[in-house]
Amino acid sequence: MTHASLLHRITDYANRANPYPLYEELRRTPVLHEEDGGPYLVGSYWDILGLLHDPRISSDAGNLAAAGADEGVGAEETGLPPSFIRLDPPEHDRLRRIANRSFGPPHCPRRIDAMRGELADIVSGLIDGFGDARQIDVVDQFAYPFPVTVICRLLGVPREDEPRFRAWVEPIVASLDPQTQTGENEAERLQSTREARVQLGLYLAELVEQRRREPGNDMLSELVTSHGPDGPMTTMEVLSTSVLLLIAGHETTVNLITNGMLTLLRYPEFLRKLRDDPGLAVNVVEELLRYEPPVQLVPQRTSIADIEVRGVTIPKGSRIWLVLAAGNRDPERFEDPDRFDPYRGDIQHLGFGSGIHSCFGAPLARLEAQIALSELARRLDDPRLLEDPPPYRQNAVLRGPRHLAVGFEGVR
Ligand code: HEM
Repeated sequence: MTHASLLHRITDYANRANPYPLYEELRRTPVLHEEDGGPYLVGSYWDILGLLHDPRISSDAGNLAAAGADEGVGAEETGLPPSFIRLDPPEHDRLRRIANRSFGPPHCPRRIDAMRGELADIVSGLIDGFGDARQIDVVDQFAYPFPVTVICRLLGVPREDEPRFRAWVEPIVASLDPQTQTGENEAERLQSTREARVQLGLYLAELVEQRRREPGNDMLSELVTSHGPDGPMTTMEVLSTSVLLLIAGHETTVNLITNGMLTLLRYPEFLRKLRDDPGLAVNVVEELLRYEPPVQLVPQRTSIADIEVRGVTIPKGSRIWLVLAAGNRDPERFEDPDRFDPYRGDIQHLGFGSGIHSCFGAPLARLEAQIALSELARRLDDPRLLEDPPPYRQNAVLRGPRHLAVGFEGVR
């Protein structure tokens, strides 16, 4: 097999259920560059980690647009400036610091820890809702509604508006899939992504104005009233930060919970161990973030100088894809990397990225997945997979099952 089609095969939906052999192939080449103008792919753990910390690679939407990626949808088209995930320092750091004031810094997530009881109640309610059923779709009945409810409460977005904002979130999330970034309908797709961002921005603008008049105990209120050492965010900055948090806050966690249930049902000895010892949930979730990471790759980086990686030069102005899921199974970093083993001593995965853009919501995502999986393990009597592999979502970046049919004998 030649390298000529590896990029295509990684994004090809036909390989979504098991991309890991392709990543193994990718790791054989330090930097894979198959087409003129195409991205440079990196799949080894240490190289990815180094690049995530390298100030010569940029996340700035303007640089990405210059490198030919579809990330340049700028303020003039959508009415919104880029959020901090698409900005470099110092702007990135300023906005992330302000957002952190209302969220709690990563190692002291006060707001998140205070939500533990509330999260457990939402999970119990969803599992009670299975009623007398003997079969569920884990995605639609559990893994999607749970993080949506949580991020809505955290931000202060009405939960009942979910069908409205879902219609705007879907095209935005689809636009992150590299496969949809080329092809005949590109102009149409770009148009619908822009339209969706405008609509979502307008929807959030109403809520933000209302919170400015009557602040509540939620993140939107804190974002509009925050006056820390960095000063306030502008209204436009509040809006793009809210769009980012609303989307990143649930579109990834749904996949972590679903990938988690799928993996535990494929390795039932760990499901049993988790049922007997809920404390194992911490390690189970870390190992899942390594073994089946919901964000498979980070395609939003551009080199702003020539960068040499193991003797290969990535020229200035190139698009770079950091394939986190390939790094997570790099045998140079992890022993027996294709084995799912929550008891492995060292699980320093790349599932939340690393460096200045490392996941802002990691404390929340971890807690949600720990509670969700330990409660499913405890309460479902004799669960089993009804379809393996399950049908996957189209997206190659945010990868996870679209449905996960699970049968069981009852709910405890
Ligand atoms: C960034 C993964 C949940 C908010 C990231 C990045 C990854 C990631 C890999 C780095 C992107 C990059 O380097 O360009 C995940 C996974 C999650 C999850 C796997 C769930 C399992 C969440 C949640 C929130 C969130 C629940 C919000 C409440 C963010 C934000 C950024 C980010 C705001 C941008 C950080 C920055 O640019 O400084 N996430 N995430 N994520 N995540 Fe998450």
